Amino acid sequence: MSMDINKKVDMIINEIENGNRKELTMYDELAEVYDFLYGREYDYEKQSSYIQDALNNTNDKKIIEGGCGTGRLLKQLSLDIPDAKIKGVELHKGMSELSKSRTSDLDNVDVKQGDMFDVSGEYSVFSLFGVMAHVSESMREDLFSRVYDTLYPNGAFVLNYKHPEFEVNGRYSPWSGETDKYEIKSHFITLYDNDDTYYAVSYEFKDKEKGKEYCAGELMDIYFHNPDDIIADLEKTGFKSISTHGDKNKNGVIIAYK
Ligand SMILES: C[S@@+](CC[C@H](N)C(=O)[O-])C[C@H]1O[C@@H](n2cnc3c(N)ncnc32)[C@H](O)[C@@H]1O
Repeated sequence: MSMDINKKVDMIINEIENGNRKELTMYDELAEVYDFLYGREYDYEKQSSYIQDALNNTNDKKIIEGGCGTGRLLKQLSLDIPDAKIKGVELHKGMSELSKSRTSDLDNVDVKQGDMFDVSGEYSVFSLFGVMAHVSESMREDLFSRVYDTLYPNGAFVLNYKHPEFEVNGRYSPWSGETDKYEIKSHFITLYDNDDTYYAVSYEFKDKEKGKEYCAGELMDIYFHNPDDIIADLEKTGFKSISTHGDKNKNGVIIAYK
């Protein structure tokens, strides 16, 4: 579907060496690397099963996924629920292009590059997986009320979150993978700057033949949410029948109904 990952890493290394840059954007310039590493870590069948349960046997199966990344869940949903209409909204061009190419032959999937805060229309399910990490506490209630407005009565909001216990102290290297040419690893490091917390998110590429290592990444704001705070904001917004699933103290899933 997308460019061969070796070729993409060749281009990244060329940019690091010749462009003299180490700061490359995670969701644009490094989108293929995200897809290569993160895509193999996540259980998209499980994510799809939460959405299928939340659909609540509605006849009009309209699903919207905010922050659809590289389209792996969109594709899974299309296979699992062929009579659904599935829309993906993704802020970044690099990620949305991968989503578009991954789902280009699927008639029931439509991907738009845009902001999930600006979504309009009416849906049976609004899902967010891996996206709350980019939503600050002060934006949370606004997002939830926008989601509420786009749901049918009895429509479901399905979201996961990272619990504050996930905050990185020191270096955290969650993902790794390799091709015939490269070993690739991810690293997260917490950086404190006065009251703000940032994350340095980077990838390390090791050329196996030359034994040379390269690193590139970006500083990001990453937010952690206590599930009790999420539930309180959902209730304030008007959501009901709220349930939690999976590991509540790590990266649980919450389902709430309009
Ligand atoms: C950690 S990735 C998760 C991607 C995908 N859901 C997955 O599980 O593989 C977070 C994604 O959310 C997107 N995102 C962040 N804020 C967004 C917003 N306001 N609107 C749409 N997408 C957003 C990012 O561009 C990124 O692709």
